[in-house]
Amino acid sequence: MGDEPGQPVDAPWWRSAVIYQIYPRSFADSDGDGIGDLPGIRARLPYLRELGVDAVWISPFYPSPMADAGYDVSDYRDVEPIFGTLADADALLTEAHALGLKVIVDLVPNHTSDEHEWFRAALDAPPGSPERARYMFRDGRGEHGEIPPNDWISNFGGAAWTRAADGQWYLHLFDSKQPDLDWTNPEVVAEFESILRFWLDRGIDGFRIDVAHGLAKDPEMPDLEGNWATGGPAVEGHPHWDRDEVHEVYRGWRRVTDAYAGDRVFVGEVWVQTPEQLARYLRGDELHTAFNFTYLLAGWDAKSLRTAIDDSIDALSAVGAPATWVLSNHDVVRHVTRYGGGDLGNHRARAATLLTLALPGGAYVYQGEELGLPEVVDLPPELRQDPAFGRTQGEDGFRDGCRVPIPWSGEAPPFGFGPGSGQPWLPQPADWAALTVEKQQGDPASMLALYRSALELRRDRPELGDGTMSWIDTDGELLAFRRDPGFVCVVNVGGEPAPPPDAVRDGALLLSSDPLEPDGRLPGATSAWYAV
Ligand code: GLC
Repeated sequence: MGDEPGQPVDAPWWRSAVIYQIYPRSFADSDGDGIGDLPGIRARLPYLRELGVDAVWISPFYPSPMADAGYDVSDYRDVEPIFGTLADADALLTEAHALGLKVIVDLVPNHTSDEHEWFRAALDAPPGSPERARYMFRDGRGEHGEIPPNDWISNFGGAAWTRAADGQWYLHLFDSKQPDLDWTNPEVVAEFESILRFWLDRGIDGFRIDVAHGLAKDPEMPDLEGNWATGGPAVEGHPHWDRDEVHEVYRGWRRVTDAYAGDRVFVGEVWVQTPEQLARYLRGDELHTAFNFTYLLAGWDAKSLRTAIDDSIDALSAVGAPATWVLSNHDVVRHVTRYGGGDLGNHRARAATLLTLALPGGAYVYQGEELGLPEVVDLPPELRQDPAFGRTQGEDGFRDGCRVPIPWSGEAPPFGFGPGSGQPWLPQPADWAALTVEKQQGDPASMLALYRSALELRRDRPELGDGTMSWIDTDGELLAFRRDPGFVCVVNVGGEPAPPPDAVRDGALLLSSDPLEPDGRLPGATSAWYAV
């Protein structure tokens, strides 16, 4: 460390970290109720240590009626009984730290649950009361106020307004059980700074911020009038996405974390259109990092990938922030399936893994991608829990397909997800018997083995992680770049074998996503790492 350009010896851990996303309902179930929990995570921490990641981000585990799988929080300072207790959370943190793993929790500031005590109090209080002023209550339009205050649409389908018993309406950009907070109210600002301190005092290493681009709304609440696509994305002048006022919130939060010892990190879930918009959240006095959805959304072709990489690095380096590279999470179709599914999707996913882990900055691994899990596309409608599925009469809301519980071991469901033979909250496909951790552990050609080898090299090679990269000239569907001083990554995005560039002619192959041809060419959908 330290001899790489742009990477000082004391660079904070999150500039280079590989962070593993745990979706707690679906990771590991300790008590056999079919739902994953914190003791389940604790028991699997050694697996994550062995995998070679640096940190975990755990999706919400707070008390919640689970209208949106925990992204509807009813108490930000406790643990949902299904998941365990606050003592379990403390033990998880202690044990993770003992293994050298950092822990990031999920913070949901755009909305609470409708079962949060604040919202219950708001419903019990009259219009115009301080209790209602914490949320976005408005009178309706029409003679009897029977028409919603404006035409805003919920991200999960349908109107973004629901009427309270006394006739006023409240805003919810997501489910009706997720009322939006009013971030112009100082009480809301103070409450969240206090919540940050609650977790920072327990020793947490950072926060993932849910819908970080959504907190501020145009006080005039103008109609969208079809000027903006349904529910987003965040373009210039949008009345509820990516408004300038959100930045003041993050400046306040940054002052909170900066007062704590150690390198605590904010990672924003910021769905915006361009890397330039993203970079505004990462200015020196705001968030530290943000998910790079431009990369996630890029198609599997050399031009799209290269453009996404260049645009991201250009925009983020202008504000001094490292990039983060993300292929999957709990809201998107798993990338094996996005890349075409089956054998093809699998090879492309392997190649994408080596590309992702070689790029400068940090990276995210969504639980199960290290096993090559595909999206489960045939879940029966009656088992689907994504609130958007219900709100759109099954036209949208298929996120359960990437949330199917992890297969750990054995030949039949629940594949060691929980003890005994009790089944998990979503059914696992029978053919996942071939994808269990147990099966892959013994197989050097497995996806799991590829992740382990890549993460080990990433720790050993000074070139990888934070720093800079430079492209090597290539033709067609070949991408190649150098990480100084002595590392080259080559990606054959195309379908035909291709020779690596001259730059690696005298290099030594460190790792490839699939075996190379005897003459050294990379088969289609293959990446290789070289020491040069
Ligand atoms: C974020 C979460 C998603 C959730 C939504 C509302 O996008 O990642 O799972 O449904 O926010 O909280």
